[in-house]
Amino acid sequence: MTSLYEQMFSQSVNDPEAFWGEAAKAIDWVKTPTQVLDSSNPPFYRWFRGGVLNTCYNAVDRHVERGRADQAAIIYDSPVTGVVRTITYRELQGQVAQFGGLLRKLGVGKGDRVIIYMPMIPEAVIAMLSCARIGAVHSVVFGGFAPSELSTRINDAKPKVIVSASCGIEGKKVLPYKPMLDQAIDLSIHKPGHTVIYQRPQAEASMVAGRDVDWVEGAAAAAPAECVPVDATDPLYILYTSGTTGQPKGIVRDNGGHAVALTWTMKYMYNMQPGERFWAASDVGWVVGHSYICYGPLLYGCTTVMFEGKPVGTPDPGAFWRMISQHKIATLFTAPTAFRAIKREDPDGEFLKKYDLGGFRALFLAGERSDPDTLMWAETKLNVPVIDHWWQTETGWAISGNPLGICKFKVKYGSATKPLPGWDVRVLNAEQQQVPDGDIGAIVVKLPMPPGSLPTLWNADDRFLKSYMADYPGYYQTGDAGFIDEDGYISIMARTDDIINVAGHRLSTGGMEEVLSGHQSVAECAVIGVADQLKGQVPLGFLVLKAGVKKSHDEIVKEVVALVREKIGPVADFKRAVVVERLPKTRSGKILRGTMQKIADSVEYKCPATIDDPAILPEIAEALKSLGYAKSA
Ligand code: COA
Ligand code: AMP
Repeated sequence: MTSLYEQMFSQSVNDPEAFWGEAAKAIDWVKTPTQVLDSSNPPFYRWFRGGVLNTCYNAVDRHVERGRADQAAIIYDSPVTGVVRTITYRELQGQVAQFGGLLRKLGVGKGDRVIIYMPMIPEAVIAMLSCARIGAVHSVVFGGFAPSELSTRINDAKPKVIVSASCGIEGKKVLPYKPMLDQAIDLSIHKPGHTVIYQRPQAEASMVAGRDVDWVEGAAAAAPAECVPVDATDPLYILYTSGTTGQPKGIVRDNGGHAVALTWTMKYMYNMQPGERFWAASDVGWVVGHSYICYGPLLYGCTTVMFEGKPVGTPDPGAFWRMISQHKIATLFTAPTAFRAIKREDPDGEFLKKYDLGGFRALFLAGERSDPDTLMWAETKLNVPVIDHWWQTETGWAISGNPLGICKFKVKYGSATKPLPGWDVRVLNAEQQQVPDGDIGAIVVKLPMPPGSLPTLWNADDRFLKSYMADYPGYYQTGDAGFIDEDGYISIMARTDDIINVAGHRLSTGGMEEVLSGHQSVAECAVIGVADQLKGQVPLGFLVLKAGVKKSHDEIVKEVVALVREKIGPVADFKRAVVVERLPKTRSGKILRGTMQKIADSVEYKCPATIDDPAILPEIAEALKSLGYAKSA
């Protein structure tokens, strides 16, 4: 007999219209879609053509109308400021309507863009939902990015308004956001008409008269906004993510497919019931924050939890257990790095003994590969299923995992389990042929991808085609390499491009190289990701200096470290670089970053047959040893 998973998976790939047409019934439509899947212009597939809806109505208003008005929609917990705040669905509706009204008063209409540069406070989610309410397109920029990164996004998205706060709280540090915002606007060619600033008592921002509007005063004076009906295919948001260059990719998410897919995942992937509490310990600036701090839990009528703290140090490695116990959280979603941080400080789980985790059901990990040690540690200490699931900013939700709402597959450590319904995952070789079970190749998804995945890149259809659709026609190229075993389990082993994953944050080494090349003493450079026990990977730079440079190597390293922090931001965590005489290259001039990475990580490697001069490799190993890497070289 076929299992429920097999039935669902098979229908989702053989008759996606029936499968997703059924799932779409969980959404309130102003007009029901006339076509579930429009395949008329591949690879630009569009879901729910003809459908009209409002995402904010589905995430907020309908729950107020149907008995959840007094249920908590958001619980905000900020350990450093000592604030715990609960916002009911009724209160959320009021605040979102007022803030939507303010945006409208400032000239924002359907299709206009609004950039949101906010710390982890409920106002970030309120701003997102308010945009959805009035049909505007939000683009949230993570607070750890520097002004020049914010400026790149301002120039690309061309927002009418930017919403921000006076400061963020990072661990025990208070970080003023407004000076960074002002600097970003100064750097930008496109100027927003207004900014709206949420003043926090920890650091008040100075305001520019005529341009900057105070959130509280402005929202109080605005007329509440109603939900504006939009097409299912209209964009809900743009989220910029690292590509292979310094120019980030603007991932577009539509309204209809996104609402249908996320609602489906709350039940089938996360096994949640409406009314329960879901906590994604991430940041609104990342896709996890979009899908599972803001939209997913609210679309499904759950309570979402926002934590303005860290897994350790706010105040101790028991912070996550305190949160789960105090707020009666059913399911936690975070990155493995958070658990590595906790495990490092409290290997025996002493802090766990202080809390009752009775109602806690499951832990989901994503953002980077879950190393078996950390996963087993979490399983043993928490005694609940610990699920590694694999996804990307582009896909918006998990491609593979253990779908607890459908079944529970046996865990294979190191694997992100099986493809979820909707995702026809294959592993191909360079000749575009499927490889045998267990062989490593490029992981691709047969088109069409399910609802909620990116329909294109913002104002960049050509880049969409080139980045994702060109190398394997008929498939979406994930950029990940790995294998599928004989039981259909997927293991993600590496990226096929120069993207690295630092503490679950996706970063482009190409973008960092662009910054290093801008230093006056640097003739040539390479950045690789080296293994790190806490963060998974950290970036490391190699610098070849111009002839005649007089400065000391230490001085230059300090300067390039400061430059990356200034141009990309602290989130890049670029703190290590070394000066070398030359870089290893192929005879055609390609830098052998993969080989350098293997040397750094003390992984066995073969000297590539195409190398120009093999004598360079020992020099690289020596340079790496000076930084504590390449121990076995
Ligand atoms: N605004 C401003 N700066 C920020 C920031 C933000 N929102 N988020 C991070 N930063 C800064 C940090 O303060 C740090 O600066 P520093 O170099 O001055 O110390 C730098 O960016 C790197 O931050 P981070 O990678 O978070 O390292 P950390 O040492 O502060 O913390 C962990 C390490 C593991 C505790 C932390 O990365 C963590 O909790 N990760 C959870 C995973 C996660 O949220 N993943 C998101 C995808 S699911
Ligand atoms: P992001 O777009 O920031 O979510 O990063 C997506 C990338 O993170 C993927 O392409 C993978 O390289 C990596 N990633 C995310 N989740 C996992 C996982 N569970 N296992 C392995 N790699 C992962």
